Amino acid sequence: MNIDYKESIPNNVNLEEDRRLQRALEKWRPMFFDWWRDMGPSDSADMDIYLRTAISVEPSGWANFDHVRMPDYRWGIFLAPAEDGRKINFGMHKGRPAWQQVPGEGRAELRRLIVTQGDTEPASVEQQRKLGKTAPSLYDLRNLFQVNVEEGRHLWAMVYLLHAHFGRDGREEAEALLERHSGDPDKPRILDAFNEETPEWLSFFMFTYFTDRDGKYQLAALAESGFDPLSRTCRFMLTEEAHHMFVGETGIGRVVKRACEIMSEQKTGEVRKFGGIDLPTVQKYLNFHYSVSMDLFGQELSTNAANYYTMGIKGRYRETEIEDDHVLIEDSYRVPEIRGNSIVTVDAPALKSINVRLRDDYVVDCQRGLDKWNKIIRNAGIDFELKLPDQGFNRTIGTFAGVEVSPAGKLLDADEWNRLQGDWLPTEDDKAFIKSLMGPVTEPGKFAGWIAPPAKGIYGQPLDFEYVRFN
Ligand SMILES: [Fe+2]
Ligand SMILES: [Fe+2]
Repeated sequence: MNIDYKESIPNNVNLEEDRRLQRALEKWRPMFFDWWRDMGPSDSADMDIYLRTAISVEPSGWANFDHVRMPDYRWGIFLAPAEDGRKINFGMHKGRPAWQQVPGEGRAELRRLIVTQGDTEPASVEQQRKLGKTAPSLYDLRNLFQVNVEEGRHLWAMVYLLHAHFGRDGREEAEALLERHSGDPDKPRILDAFNEETPEWLSFFMFTYFTDRDGKYQLAALAESGFDPLSRTCRFMLTEEAHHMFVGETGIGRVVKRACEIMSEQKTGEVRKFGGIDLPTVQKYLNFHYSVSMDLFGQELSTNAANYYTMGIKGRYRETEIEDDHVLIEDSYRVPEIRGNSIVTVDAPALKSINVRLRDDYVVDCQRGLDKWNKIIRNAGIDFELKLPDQGFNRTIGTFAGVEVSPAGKLLDADEWNRLQGDWLPTEDDKAFIKSLMGPVTEPGKFAGWIAPPAKGIYGQPLDFEYVRFN
């Protein structure tokens, strides 16, 4: 097979000269294309889509927009520029030069972290593969596909690390990333949230707001890694992740805005009658996606997380900006605990609490979107407030697994939970209603009735631009 590497795989890892990496990719790349055809966005092969393709890491190089077909998308491999003299900034090796090769001790742990991150990337493409059929506008359809191709590129990014640094077992893991599938009973994806369906667009916006944001925090923690290639890979991925969360934040904001418009115009709270999504339903979907995403941070007290930190391979959010010794042997951190009938906060060893710390940073970031959505509601003169549910609500991992907690943070018995959960989580009726709203809108500049148009188009294009052309 003859591949023009520079042309077909944009990269800044010297792929043109690296025979070993070329050989690994020659085998994996056709498997990726088969996977994209079978498990990627369905019935999309003929569409020309206005997409951004990263062709270098300079700002001008990753904002390259053009109409392309997704099978011809150029998935590239990019590391953020090297930082001169970068050091390991935390853990037992603190102060030593960052590793350019996988350290002997910590190899298995690093591979596990890379595989777990890598597994989420194609999983979300699989979860979203049917959404193209019911897009509320060409603008939204284009955004969905942009997210999909970039998640595909994130898979490439993790596969690059496996191929370049982990030899044969890395190549095997890279193939396994294409063999597990979201929701597959025999070979599911590694993390539960990535085996959930994304059956309609409200869920898609919630997913990109809450679950991609978990991705942001995991990538940010890995970007602190003492293993420099991982750090640089994740730093570049974060630039793309920002767009995914933008899609979620503005998507939910537009749903909220449309609900408010209907309430003001029709002078009623019965938004559904007029083809909109009512705010209590938005709250239920928010409750679900937030709680499922909270589970992705893992156990509150985790020996694995402590080890990753001490070994210098996974840090905290903005590690170097935190004012402490970055070793944490003496430190404590506040974690939730259940005592009798109440949820209390106790001191725990900081090292074992790394997951809670990252999750706490995530929660603060999540609230920012709610503040914006609540402002839309307030500005419309409507008395309603979207709230993040309590950290214990609807959880299946860690301290809150096996107990039931209300959105307000009250412990409930099983009867109360069964009686009330339909008020807090989407019911079958809610799901059927949301699905009933979905239908493709393919005329340029037109938007489905349940969602307001965005404030502006993509990359300076007007709203009625032909973001997707059907052939
Ligand atoms: Fe991603
Ligand atoms: Fe993402």
